[in-house]
Amino acid sequence: MPPGFDPVDEEVAVGPYLLRIVRPRTAETLIDEALFALDERLPYWAEVWPSARVLAGALLAEPLEGRRVLELGAGLGVPSIVAALRGASAVATDWYEEALAFCRANVARAGVPVDTLLVDWFDPPAELLAGQPFDLVIGADVLYEPRHAGPLAELVQRLVAPHGTGWIADPRRPDAAPFLRRMAEAGWSVDTEEVRNPGRIDESGPIIKLHRIRPPG
Ligand SMILES: C[S@@+](CC[C@H](N)C(=O)[O-])C[C@H]1O[C@@H](n2cnc3c(N)ncnc32)[C@H](O)[C@@H]1O
Repeated sequence: MPPGFDPVDEEVAVGPYLLRIVRPRTAETLIDEALFALDERLPYWAEVWPSARVLAGALLAEPLEGRRVLELGAGLGVPSIVAALRGASAVATDWYEEALAFCRANVARAGVPVDTLLVDWFDPPAELLAGQPFDLVIGADVLYEPRHAGPLAELVQRLVAPHGTGWIADPRRPDAAPFLRRMAEAGWSVDTEEVRNPGRIDESGPIIKLHRIRPPG
């Protein structure tokens, strides 16, 4: 675990699983002005967002044994861990090394294998692209800035297998719309389910949208 993060434990219940998640005590003290000036980077990875709980919960009803799952913007890794607990081969990605360090600690606590990979959606590494395609590409609360739509739409289209699916959990943010529009324009189908958030209710309210997107054909 990287030093200086004042780690605390949080219990996250997902169906039959009670995950003991370690996270920084507060995200606010982690804001790095230099990084923000560089690429508008903010430490949103440091908490389990309501969308992650909903996404992880939705994975419980999905047959995942032996399937390859990739999580974008995984933060502390809750959905990836649940996917692995259900038999998937999971890869959790984020653009913060510190997020991946905490994610690995959470993976170790859960006692399941989850790979981690440093991935910036704006400049995806060759290692990620070499690992495609994935049966399921997932992301929780990753569409919160207008500039996310283009790179994420492109990445999902490259990474999801022809028979596969992308699942994006979205706390009804306005910036989800341009992403969904791009996917529809590329011929992908979009099914949206409204799911009640089972955990902490914050400004995103009690309902999270779960967008399931499938390739054309
Ligand atoms: C709102 S947080 C959600 C974290 C986690 N999915 C959850 O729901 O608890 C957004 C996540 O996307 C990651 N992220 C933002 N921009 C990114 C980028 N350009 N490339 C990769 N990850 C990014 C952040 O570091 C953060 O972990």
